[in-house]
Amino acid sequence: MPVLINITSENLLSEKELKEIEKKTEKALKYLKFHKKEVSLVLTDNRTIKKLNKQYLERHYPTNVLAFPFSKEKPRVSNILGEVIVSVEKARQEAKLYQLNFKNYLFAIIIHGLIHLLDYDHEKGLFSPFLMVKNELNLFSKLAFKEGKKEVINFIKRREYMPAKLAVNVDHVATVREARKTYYPDPVHAAVLAELGGADGIVVHLRLDRRHIKERDVRIIKEIIKTKLILEMAIDEGLIKFAKEVKPYQVTLVPERVEEVTTEGGMNLEGRVKEVKKAVKELNEAGIKVSLFLNPDEKTIKLAKKTGAQIIEIHTGIYAEADTEEKKEEEFDKIEIAARVAKDLGFEVHAGHGLNYENIGPVAAIPQIEEFSIGHSIVSRAIFVGIKDAVREMKELIIRARG
Ligand code: PXP
Repeated sequence: MPVLINITSENLLSEKELKEIEKKTEKALKYLKFHKKEVSLVLTDNRTIKKLNKQYLERHYPTNVLAFPFSKEKPRVSNILGEVIVSVEKARQEAKLYQLNFKNYLFAIIIHGLIHLLDYDHEKGLFSPFLMVKNELNLFSKLAFKEGKKEVINFIKRREYMPAKLAVNVDHVATVREARKTYYPDPVHAAVLAELGGADGIVVHLRLDRRHIKERDVRIIKEIIKTKLILEMAIDEGLIKFAKEVKPYQVTLVPERVEEVTTEGGMNLEGRVKEVKKAVKELNEAGIKVSLFLNPDEKTIKLAKKTGAQIIEIHTGIYAEADTEEKKEEEFDKIEIAARVAKDLGFEVHAGHGLNYENIGPVAAIPQIEEFSIGHSIVSRAIFVGIKDAVREMKELIIRARG
């Protein structure tokens, strides 16, 4: 018997579903020419997979699948290929969230795990992520259940081929400069090095009090970077005039309070749609895309549609600062739902604030989010490893989250 199924909790699947999944998994193994091998398939819940994810991969969240090849050196010699552990609970939640057929989505997750078992295939070499997706799609397309097959295929393509981009905020390089009112360190140098580390864009926040970034920084960065400049700012007549003159690729409109240490939350659009719409129109007419920084709140995102903005940046600060696992999960769910709502409304979806090397994983796995805006954690790490490596490490985490 090539598939040994072990179910850790009751009521995860009906008898019928279990039989169908078992049959399909055996077919998948046959197709992979591994039908003489054994695979252990563990079907479990979020609590168990979260524990395993933490124990083996130091990731502190429930994932949908984990795969452990038993013999990395000689998978074709060993009789046991390895173990695939799937959280049926997570699969069910994700299928509901992304409106996918549950059985097919669960099967796609199992295939993903099986392909991971082949990661270290000596005959073929280490699979590149691209090859893995190709194999995954191939296999799934051949064997999937009929219902909702197309939607799951599109979902895999979207998730795997397009890791989110990383826009790096260099404000805090200017914060260090302003601590002594000198001319160094220069955020302009940081922007160039961030690009060399793989940044897909550079972000600067020109605050009303000019506490870190100055007009000079924005102008020079715009001039020399090869990616895109994103200018964060409050809605202010002088700033809009400046933006129209410098013409960044994108303006992100944020709320601003003089006393705040950093942006404290998303914009409140209640009663402000007309004002925001006017700013969006003016910037758009100058050829600048506009993003609104919003809390992960469905009502606000729906209201944002009336402003004409092209992009929504979901505020991840509350998720990042959550001090209990329960609160973190609650906030994560809000971000996941907000991302889907925003995408469904036709927005390009970005996210940011408070994201660091520990908490980026789960949010980077949300397929609707196309770009992250990250500053403080990258600049902090750069003190020790340099900007290029700090950016590269963050990019790797973002890419790996969808693998
Ligand atoms: N997005 C927005 C709208 C922000 O205001 C900031 C902070 O300037 C960030 C993202 C980046 O936040 P952090 O510095 O915590 O990564």
